[in-house]
Amino acid sequence: MTYRQATHDVPTVFESRERPLQDENFDGTVGGLLPEELVRKELDIPDLPERDVVKHFVNLSQMNFGVDNGIYPLGSCTMKYNPKVCDEVVSWPTVADIHPLQDQSTVQGALRLMYELERLLAEIGGVDAVTLQPAAGAQGEYTGIQIVRAFHESNGEERKEVVLPDTAHGTNPASAAMVGYDVLDLPSKDGCVDIEALKAAVSEDTAAFMLTNPNTLGIFEKDVREMAGIIHDAGALLYYDGANLNAIMGKTSPGKMDFDIVHFNLHKTFATPHGGGGPGSGPVGVKRPLEGFLPVPRILKRGEVYSLDYDCPKSIGKVRAFYGNYAVLVRAYAYIRMMGGNGLASASENAVLNSNYLKELLKGDFELPFSDLRKHEFVLSGRPLKAKGLRTMDFAKRLLDYGFHAPTVYFPLVVDEAIMIEPTETETKETLDDFAEACKAILKEDPEVLRTAPHNTARRRINEAKAARDMILSWREYKKKAANQTSA
Ligand SMILES: Cc1ncc(COP(=O)(O)O)c(C=O)c1O
Repeated sequence: MTYRQATHDVPTVFESRERPLQDENFDGTVGGLLPEELVRKELDIPDLPERDVVKHFVNLSQMNFGVDNGIYPLGSCTMKYNPKVCDEVVSWPTVADIHPLQDQSTVQGALRLMYELERLLAEIGGVDAVTLQPAAGAQGEYTGIQIVRAFHESNGEERKEVVLPDTAHGTNPASAAMVGYDVLDLPSKDGCVDIEALKAAVSEDTAAFMLTNPNTLGIFEKDVREMAGIIHDAGALLYYDGANLNAIMGKTSPGKMDFDIVHFNLHKTFATPHGGGGPGSGPVGVKRPLEGFLPVPRILKRGEVYSLDYDCPKSIGKVRAFYGNYAVLVRAYAYIRMMGGNGLASASENAVLNSNYLKELLKGDFELPFSDLRKHEFVLSGRPLKAKGLRTMDFAKRLLDYGFHAPTVYFPLVVDEAIMIEPTETETKETLDDFAEACKAILKEDPEVLRTAPHNTARRRINEAKAARDMILSWREYKKKAANQTSA
């Protein structure tokens, strides 16, 4: 094992020099364009030379692991390598230097790009109309379930329940509950939706059934059309969580599977890394009868002129400032245009191939619950580790020492000690072989080495519960907390 992460002693930029920025020669009035009284003479930011700022951020980046460092097999998150050309186009002045408050006549290119992206996503998703506004998959779900409510209300119905399988991602029940629905959790059978249980659960109170296909175990729900029939016969709607679209694009679509509403995770499937709190985008697509409920504004094309339309009486309203996360939309557009339909289909094929190849390499060393062929991801159980007094988390931490990002762990909840691996299409066979070899080597190591891992990273094991519960996300918050602690 040769991996060793860089370790630098990096104070925050604020701590590195307390002196605030004061520059007598700085003409903040921009040559007299700004009134003197609006210009601050002192800023509460440190006075650092550019050289130190660059050193600071480069050193910090070396103490991190990202999609550019190596395989990042975070199941359900689709952390594929993102082509640099998609980042490059976002830096072009025609993209980076425009403002959402500009007159529409001056941003026709941006409106055209968004209009065309909506059409491309509609084709990929097998739906009729798309909004690009939601800023994440979870916000897409929230928007979609608001559309569900608006649809039933327009029919004079007040349905109370949203049904979802126990393999669902936590954001699904959370979104349904936030819109005001009761959530009915459906136990799975052999890793898939239990059709008889679904029939028993659905009633005239059911507003929607939320599903991702392939599901979060990586198994394709082959009875999805039968499920759609059950849901539609009850007057309810079928919602597709697009988190797993990377397994099926260009091969089939949620629309073909009879889903009525779908969200896309552009930041998974279409060239922006997911997670780490980074910017996201969760467009929502619908079949024609639901189009009127989409959020405003809609993008219109009349002749060769594009405009934003707010005159949509049935719309659920606005769900986000301006028109969506434009930089993520541009990356997705560039990626889809670059790949083309055949390219997207082959990305899915390779994602599925890589997943099954890795599954075959590893299934003998762990437990593989449910025997079906997997799609783009598979879930192992780390239960065999228990015999050595270890847990899946210890294994995941030790993988970091080998220079591999850990898979998703403890999700989905239906698998004990779950290890959810999604290699994506962008990794080579050599990388997959190395990854499998590392997993096998770890299982043979002294349990104490795993229990105390990671050893070769910039930070040792952190208190993850505290990190999630006690978040300090800005310097201002840090200072506020420090001041409160001193005064307490
Ligand atoms: C299956 C599934 N559904 C929904 C989401 C929510 O998406 P987002 O993180 O973009 O809000 C995720 C996130 O990873 C997911 O894996």
